Amino acid sequence: MTTSNRRRPETAQWLKASNSITQQFLAFGGRADVVSLAGGLPAAELYPIEAIGEAARRALETLGAAALEYGAVEGFLPLRRLIAERMAAETGGAFTAANVLLTSGSMQALDLIGKVLIDPGDLIVAQAPTYLGALDAWRPRRPAYLPLDWQAQDVETLARAKFAYAVPNYSNPTGVLVPQDRRAALLDKVRAAGTWLVEDDPYLTMQLDGPPGPSILARDVARSRGAYDGSVIYLGTVSKSLVPGLRVGWVVAAAGMIQSLALAKQATDLSSSMFTQAVALDLLERDVDRRHSASIVPVYRERRDALVSEAALRLSEWFEWEVPPGGMFVWMRSKDRAIDTDELYRFAVEEKVAFVPSSVFDFTGEDRYAMRVNFTRSSPEVIREGVRRLGRAIDTYASSRPQLGRRAGPNSRR
Ligand SMILES: Cc1ncc(COP(=O)(O)O)c(C=O)c1O
Repeated sequence: MTTSNRRRPETAQWLKASNSITQQFLAFGGRADVVSLAGGLPAAELYPIEAIGEAARRALETLGAAALEYGAVEGFLPLRRLIAERMAAETGGAFTAANVLLTSGSMQALDLIGKVLIDPGDLIVAQAPTYLGALDAWRPRRPAYLPLDWQAQDVETLARAKFAYAVPNYSNPTGVLVPQDRRAALLDKVRAAGTWLVEDDPYLTMQLDGPPGPSILARDVARSRGAYDGSVIYLGTVSKSLVPGLRVGWVVAAAGMIQSLALAKQATDLSSSMFTQAVALDLLERDVDRRHSASIVPVYRERRDALVSEAALRLSEWFEWEVPPGGMFVWMRSKDRAIDTDELYRFAVEEKVAFVPSSVFDFTGEDRYAMRVNFTRSSPEVIREGVRRLGRAIDTYASSRPQLGRRAGPNSRR
């Protein structure tokens, strides 16, 4: 056999615009000797394993082989109905199964939205910094981006956009809770512009300092009559309220949009796992997710407080932050942009601690002066150790940059 020495075809262009830092930090953060403050993962030791086991057994007993078939592309009907009922109870709106598409996590919903709405060059007005997974999902579609201005967004720009994208509850990466008046103002403008608003809400249940108030979808519902046919495409998931491994998420939107997304989904994976949808149905019917969320919130609050108190000791000379009222992350901004967090990351690797540098959340890739630090995955002790390592990494970084001055800070090894 002869081997051709012709070059194989190149990969598609969008891959070249992708960055490998995400893969690097995921691989690095998974190492046992590393304190990972990088991922967006819940605390695995708190997962309700027993309840999930019982739900799985019941799902198989009740449904038999049907739990192991391909499912309907729109999702398992009883679970769609349950999500519609919950949404109606939460918002006062008229939702039915026709307003619900079940997805393999919210991540798939983002991908499907890209497939359905974005042609190359189309504009997205996105809350900035932006969830990295959304940027990843939409990159192959080659959209253009402008930052969403919660205070003074102009309607003309929105009218040119295919959609606005926001995570109003405890945003990823910043942990910001968007105030209600800004949500109302944005909805007014989205309606005036006649565009879509993608409201991504995975952190809803992670309320560390009290409830966040109504979603933008709820505000929109209050103004609609009859079956929901509004501008908001709302994304929910069990990844934070239960476990990410079920890969069960949902889109709630106007029935026409659900049909378009279902067409895109058919070409993506035919259907989400019937088995995990059946398990999720059993868990949600019994309110396991609500009880579980209520039980983990105090644990996460303690972890957040451990992170910010240790950071106040070790990092406040170089970084500043607001204490997030919920979610999973503290967003630390370098004071006076003194520290480039892409560079700091290399020093952090040496100290065996991981965070996520801001550049990956910026659609221009230019913001290199902040970092996302997770507080949910590890115990308070491990988090404190991670912050100490981060402090040492910053000291070494700073002393390798004469312009930053050499300070014998609280992190030196002596
Ligand atoms: C803002 C945001 N959207 C979507 C997702 C994806 O969630 P899922 O696990 O449901 O795919 C995440 C995950 O961290 C997220 O932070």
